Amino acid sequence: MGLLTQAFLFLRENWIFLILAPIAFHLLYNKYGHGLSKIPGPFWASTSDIWLLVHYTRRRGLTERQMHEKYNSPLLRLGPNTVSVSDPEAIRVIYGWKPVFKKSRLYISQQVTTEHGNVLGTLSSTRDEDWHSKLRRPVANAYALSTLVEYEPLVDSTTRTFVREVTERFVKTGEECPLSDWLQMYAFDIIGELTFSKRFGFLESGKDLNNMMYHTGRAMDYIGVIGQIPMLDEYLRLKGFGHILRKLRKTNAQMKFTVAQIGEHITSKDKSRPDFLSRFLQAREKYPGIMTDGQLAMYTNTNVGAGSDTTAIALREIIYRLLTHPGSKQRFMSELRTVLQERNAEDADLPVTWAESHKMPYFQDFVRECLRLCPALGQIIPRDVPEGGLTLCGQYLPEGTVVGCNAWTVHRDEEVFGPGASEFRPERWAEASLEKRRNMDNSFFTFGGGPRVCIGKNIAMLEINKFVPEIFRRFEVEIVDPNRYHRLPGWLVVQKGLDVVLKERKMGLSS
Ligand code: HEM
Repeated sequence: MGLLTQAFLFLRENWIFLILAPIAFHLLYNKYGHGLSKIPGPFWASTSDIWLLVHYTRRRGLTERQMHEKYNSPLLRLGPNTVSVSDPEAIRVIYGWKPVFKKSRLYISQQVTTEHGNVLGTLSSTRDEDWHSKLRRPVANAYALSTLVEYEPLVDSTTRTFVREVTERFVKTGEECPLSDWLQMYAFDIIGELTFSKRFGFLESGKDLNNMMYHTGRAMDYIGVIGQIPMLDEYLRLKGFGHILRKLRKTNAQMKFTVAQIGEHITSKDKSRPDFLSRFLQAREKYPGIMTDGQLAMYTNTNVGAGSDTTAIALREIIYRLLTHPGSKQRFMSELRTVLQERNAEDADLPVTWAESHKMPYFQDFVRECLRLCPALGQIIPRDVPEGGLTLCGQYLPEGTVVGCNAWTVHRDEEVFGPGASEFRPERWAEASLEKRRNMDNSFFTFGGGPRVCIGKNIAMLEINKFVPEIFRRFEVEIVDPNRYHRLPGWLVVQKGLDVVLKERKMGLSS
């Protein structure tokens, strides 16, 4: 028998073994080869990243707290090389400044490409921390607390549009208002107004123009799922198949809008607009090498992508909780009434200001409790363990391990947030001693932490603090059926079913 024939017979008899052996080796290597085999977790999670992809496809991110409890461990193995941490102490380490833990490869799925397929490192997606600090420096001031008051007229303008539109469509007709959708339209339009002094036009049209909101939502789902196996993203989007897709795909509507607004701003004679784009263009004079046309488009697009759905989620949660907690609503309304009664007669009808909402301490705690219990991001925010590895919760994690906290998990820690940490109780913030409160604040992870903390946090708080009191002052809001309200957890935890009936309310100096 010739050698070839022998080889053929061997293959024919052993083909199953030849296929299964490398797979088994791969799974065993995954389980034992990453130095994480002592960390508990579901068996299949330790053998392949497919488990985590399926876990997030099934929208199971909010169950991670229970998984930590089930395995009775602050460390939970979610993948061959991925570990979730439930101890809030870890936030300071993983998301701290020294050393900086680089964003993990999940963020490749957030990266934007040019039409030729080159990757553009944006503020939120870049994994190069030096490049990130170069990108953040020129624009940081535009998001600073001290700049906020200058954005108030822009927020007021979108809020007025919201009030006008819902009055026409729902108050006057008595029809149910699908507030979940209207809050999303509000959050997109306001970020358009803040960024370009121009709304996208969702509120005026009452619909998702060019499916812009739909596509942003799908991009977030994509990050949460495909991001778990970054190699998939490379082949689907960045390389291989992605080259073909790019040729077939038209420039998306949001990018077209962005480019048109940048062109309009550059040629406009009015340089005094208090929006983000004007500030970015001013920064261009000092940082011409960074503030290129391409980066301007990235900064402004990132604002829309990162600052719209997240804020809509926060607004939905706050309004839902107000509508379903009559005692809290009563305290909030009483604070609001007091603030409005303190006004001069000529200011009576002006929109609620940032300064006024900060004279409402119960409302401040209420918002904080909503953001604690139901944060917008519903998965672990992954980082790479830096050179040298580290010991966390008594366990050594080698360099390159993907490690992260999920705000839905850490925010339910009873040692930090007190007994009943999973319950909604705004009073916990006022009751806490100074030291306890400091610890709660330090463990508050809704906006992330460290060098990659949300740059738009103040802007989000400005929108929340002005919009919510303004709406409750203008309308009597009643929820149609609290059971319709539900959450769809993914990278973002989007809520649906906040249907309400709106009636006009007059609230001012005398009421
Ligand atoms: C309640 C609303 C918001 C929430 C809960 C939120 C949450 C977050 C979180 C958790 C991160 C860190 C993500 C990570 O490490 O992967 C982040 C980053 C970011 N957010 Fe927000 N965000 C909100 C509103 C906004 C707004 C209004 C803007 C823009 C005006 C914005 C712009 C950004 C940007 C640009 C980053 C990346 C920052 C960097 O890496 O330097 N966000 N946000």
